[in-house]
Amino acid sequence: MLVGEPRFQPKPFLKVMGGEACFPPPVWLMRQAGRYLPEYQALRAKAASFLDFCYTPALAAEATLQPVRRFGFDAAILFSDILIVPDALGQKVTFESHDGPKLDPILTSEDFVKLNGRINSSRLSPVFETIERVKTTLPAEIALIGFCGAPWTLACYMIAGKSTPDQAPARLFAYRQRDLFQSLIDRLVQASIDYLAWQIEAGVEAVQIFDTCAGVLPFAELERWSLIPVEAIVAGLRLRHKNARVIGFPKGVGQHLMDFAARTGVNALGLDSSTDPRWAAKTFDQDLVLQGNLDPLALAAGGPALEAGVRHILSAFRGRPHIFNLGHGVLPQTPIQHVELMLDFLRGDSAK
Ligand code: CP3
Repeated sequence: MLVGEPRFQPKPFLKVMGGEACFPPPVWLMRQAGRYLPEYQALRAKAASFLDFCYTPALAAEATLQPVRRFGFDAAILFSDILIVPDALGQKVTFESHDGPKLDPILTSEDFVKLNGRINSSRLSPVFETIERVKTTLPAEIALIGFCGAPWTLACYMIAGKSTPDQAPARLFAYRQRDLFQSLIDRLVQASIDYLAWQIEAGVEAVQIFDTCAGVLPFAELERWSLIPVEAIVAGLRLRHKNARVIGFPKGVGQHLMDFAARTGVNALGLDSSTDPRWAAKTFDQDLVLQGNLDPLALAAGGPALEAGVRHILSAFRGRPHIFNLGHGVLPQTPIQHVELMLDFLRGDSAK
C-alpha cells in the first residue's frame, strides 16, 4: 500500500490491480483521448504543435479528462506521448500532421554520445504539472495511469527516425552494432525508471509500459531487448516505489507472453487482439491481472462484431482480475456511439 492511501480502495481499477476480480470489469481504452473525439480536435487546434500540446499542462490535463468525462471510464491515462523521453534525452523530435513522428535518427556512436546521460527533469516538469492538475479534478473513483514506451519500442523510433512497418532499421542496428545498441537500451532503462518514478511522485496510481514493437523480434532478441530491459525497469522502479503497480503491454509476442510475464514481474499483462482470451485465462495464474483485448476494428465496425467481441471477452475472464481494454489504441475513424454501445454491453443488465 502506498503511503497516505486509504486502506479501503474505492477505485474499481485499483481493486483489480490489487488482484480482486470485479464484475463488470473496470474499463479504459488505449488512446482514449484522440482524434475520434471532436472536443480533442478542438483542443488540439489551440496548440502550435503536438509536442507543445503535450508540454502545456492546461491543454494536456484537459485532453486527459475529456474521455473520462464523456464516457465515464474507470481510469484516465495521462495525455502525453512515448516520444517525450527521446525529446528529454536531447534528440530532436517533431510530429508532422498526417505524417507521424520525425526524429533525427541515431546512426553512429557520435549521434549516441550527443544524447544526455539522464533525462532532463526540467524539460519534463510540464508533464508532472499535468498529472498534478488532473489529480485535483479527477472524481474519487477514477484512477490515473501514467506510462512510458519500453526501451525497444523507443529505440525503433530513435534509430529509424520515423514509424516503419517492420522495424528493420533498429533490428539491423541491433545485429550490426550490438554494444552501441546495448548502451542505448541501458540509457533508456535508466531514463524510464526516472520518468516513471517521477510520474508516481506527481500522482499517477499505476503505470503502463508500451512495448508496441516487441512482436517483430525472434525470441533471443526479444529476451535481450524487451524482457531483460523491462525487468530492469520494474525492479528499478520498485526500489524507489515498493508498491508500484505496473502493466506491461508487449504487443504481438504470442506465446512469449508467458516469458514476458514470468520474467518482468509486472502486476498486469496487456493482451493484444490476436491473443485468445480463453487461452490467456487458463494459462496465467490468478494473481496476474489481465487487461484487454477487444479488436479496435471491432469497435470501429460496431454491430454484431462489437457485441460478440465484448461478450466473448467478458465470459472468458469472468471470475479473475481483468481490466477491459482494446488490444491496441482507439482508431481515429471510430464512431463515438460505438464506444457508448461497448459500455452498454459491458455494464448493462444484459452483461450479467
Ligand atoms: O492513450 C492515450 O489516450 C494517452 C496518450 C497517448 C498518445 N500516444 C497520444 C497521441 C499514448 C499512451 C501514446 C503512446 C504511443 N505513442 C505509442 C505506444 C502505443 C501505440 O499506440 O502503439 C506509440 C508507438 C507512440 C508514437 C506515436 N505518437 C505515433 C507513431 C504517432 C503518430 C500516429 C498517430 O496515431 O497519430 C503519435 C501521435 C499521437 N500520440 C497522437 C495522439 C493522440 C495523434 C497526434 C495528433 O493529434 O495529431
